[in-house]
Amino acid sequence: MRLLRARSLLLGATPPELRQALRKGRDQLQRFDSRLRSALPEALGGRFSQGALICRPLTDDDLPSFAGRPGQPKQVTLGPRCFGIGVVLHGELIAWGLCVGLGPRDEEPLEHVLLMASYVLPKFRRRGVARRLIAARLETAAARGARVAFVRALKNNGASIAALEASGFERVAPAQEPAWLEGARADQVLLTYSLERVAAAVM
Ligand SMILES: CC(C)(COP(=O)(O)OP(=O)(O)OC[C@H]1O[C@@H](n2cnc3c(N)ncnc32)[C@H](O)[C@@H]1OP(=O)(O)O)[C@@H](O)C(=O)NCCC(=O)NCCS
Repeated sequence: MRLLRARSLLLGATPPELRQALRKGRDQLQRFDSRLRSALPEALGGRFSQGALICRPLTDDDLPSFAGRPGQPKQVTLGPRCFGIGVVLHGELIAWGLCVGLGPRDEEPLEHVLLMASYVLPKFRRRGVARRLIAARLETAAARGARVAFVRALKNNGASIAALEASGFERVAPAQEPAWLEGARADQVLLTYSLERVAAAVM
């Protein structure tokens, strides 16, 4: 009965309505898949175990992995103020992200860093990869002397904000944003993380 109703709905639909219905169905399927993966054991496609994922520095050899993807890094050999981390699973690069020092050019050590260009390949999402990627960058930044990390996320990017908050980042109220931190946009939210605890653990 439901199938018949869906069929007559689809046949009677105009192309834009049909497109919208298909998009909605795809979104619902993706949300279901994402929730399911977060609840399953690793062998059935759930969260990866500690040893499965390897974090390593990004190099220029990794560039083909992001080439052409909107919003992704165009270079990775960025010098002492910026580093990239890649997450590898069975030899395949499945996620990456950058960390850039903020402040005056000659500031040493870098007190403040900005995490950016975080990306997990869609088929590996909701399995704890972003948690590892965030932790690896925070540990490296802390080992280099950074004390506070920031991230700007789009307000409508619920997955990104949720992943950052799950890793301990906290939202900064617009009035509390440091005056020297440029680049605020109305459609973005700023989140921050104190690296003092991480620094104590990695020293
Ligand atoms: C945002 C992104 C990096 C998250 O990666 P991920 O590997 O799926 O995240 P994790 O599996 O480590 O999730 C960690 C926590 O974040 C939250 N989370 C992640 N994705 C979520 C989603 N789609 N909906 C709700 N919560 C989500 C959950 O709390 C999750 O913990 P749980 O699985 O125990 O519930 C990934 O979706 C992505 O690459 N998106 C496209 C690029 C992007 O938007 N980058 C961010 C730019 S600032």
